[in-house]
Amino acid sequence: MAAANENSTESESQYLHVLSAFLAMEPVDSVIALARKCSGGSFTESIQRLLWETCVQAAANGNAIYAKKLLKKLINEVELEKGEVLDEVYEEYALHMSTASKEDALVKENIRITKFISFLFPEVGLYKRPSCPSSRKLVVPLQCSLNMLEGDTGCSIWPSSLFLSEFVLSYPELFTDKSCFEVGSGVGLVGICLAHVKAKKVILTDGDLLTLSNMKLNLERNHLNYDDELLKQPGEAENTRVKCIHLPWETASDSEVSEYRPDIVLGADVIYDPSCFPHLLRVLVALLRRPTKRDNGSFETEDRATTLQGRSPAVAYIASVIRNADTFNAFLTLVDQMDLSITDLTEELKPPYELLPYMHSYDRSKVRLFSISSR
Ligand SMILES: C[S@@+](CC[C@H](N)C(=O)[O-])C[C@H]1O[C@@H](n2cnc3c(N)ncnc32)[C@H](O)[C@@H]1O
Repeated sequence: MAAANENSTESESQYLHVLSAFLAMEPVDSVIALARKCSGGSFTESIQRLLWETCVQAAANGNAIYAKKLLKKLINEVELEKGEVLDEVYEEYALHMSTASKEDALVKENIRITKFISFLFPEVGLYKRPSCPSSRKLVVPLQCSLNMLEGDTGCSIWPSSLFLSEFVLSYPELFTDKSCFEVGSGVGLVGICLAHVKAKKVILTDGDLLTLSNMKLNLERNHLNYDDELLKQPGEAENTRVKCIHLPWETASDSEVSEYRPDIVLGADVIYDPSCFPHLLRVLVALLRRPTKRDNGSFETEDRATTLQGRSPAVAYIASVIRNADTFNAFLTLVDQMDLSITDLTEELKPPYELLPYMHSYDRSKVRLFSISSR
């Protein structure tokens, strides 16, 4: 009996992985490999039906190009193993073939697509807490671009934001009731996770206006009210928990930035352009600075973290893939020159469970997590 239960839980979770990989628009080879594993090595009727149903749904949601690719791959694989392709699968593929030229034109126009990122929580006590109610998954719809480069950098989902999101969801106690400020927020995934674990305030920023408007759309799609705020009015609309700010590091002034005084600063995949480092680090210094009391009782701003106001020192969590050692070393040199200290926390704070186990395109071992604070 116990073994039967275990088997059914196992196959339920394999189905969940196939579905989650499909919704996240993982490479079709990866979805097909998961589907094959799920159905015991060949493509059973039930797994074909699952893929067909999800393809129909995806097409209805505007992701027809992806659905077509997957159907094609599925038909190839089933035919290769001399299996029987479901009529529905052939029919759906034929439908996509007849609309192919229209879809190809859309690809050339660089359309945005919606990926659904499913964080799958293991059924253990760690996640059964008020900030993460008993639901077994968190599904985040995100509009993003298929084109990672050419001006769409901030509209793509980068591995470090997946890592930082897993980190936030794995250690909610670090963020619940904290005021959090993210630099270079991109599609807004980390901010959505921060809101999920009930951060007191979530301030999302980006220097690119198109990225910012895409981020706002994603907040809406995730039912989060945001406050549209210019950098110049930091004191206003305090009631809104999520704020979106246009913040190019080059032009952000120290005094304006230091008004925000977050408990935690976050950044995912923001260490890649050496020409930006001095500006990014100046912004970090201003955000990590705490006001301290003068002799006459008024507050002055000083780099040293204060305990005078009963707040712990601010810390920045920066996740990054180190693609170029020289670039990263240049960043470290500047960190030191600007009187900041940096610690590699990758091993110490590794999330205990993979929340994206189905996402084979995401190699979390490539991402490093650093904390940065004032010296
Ligand atoms: C590689 S993307 C990472 C996006 C997101 N954090 C993620 O990991 O998915 C870098 C982000 O930093 C933003 N960015 C780059 N240079 C910037 C600058 N000088 N000022 C403000 N934001 C900048 C980009 O617009 C983009 O959203």
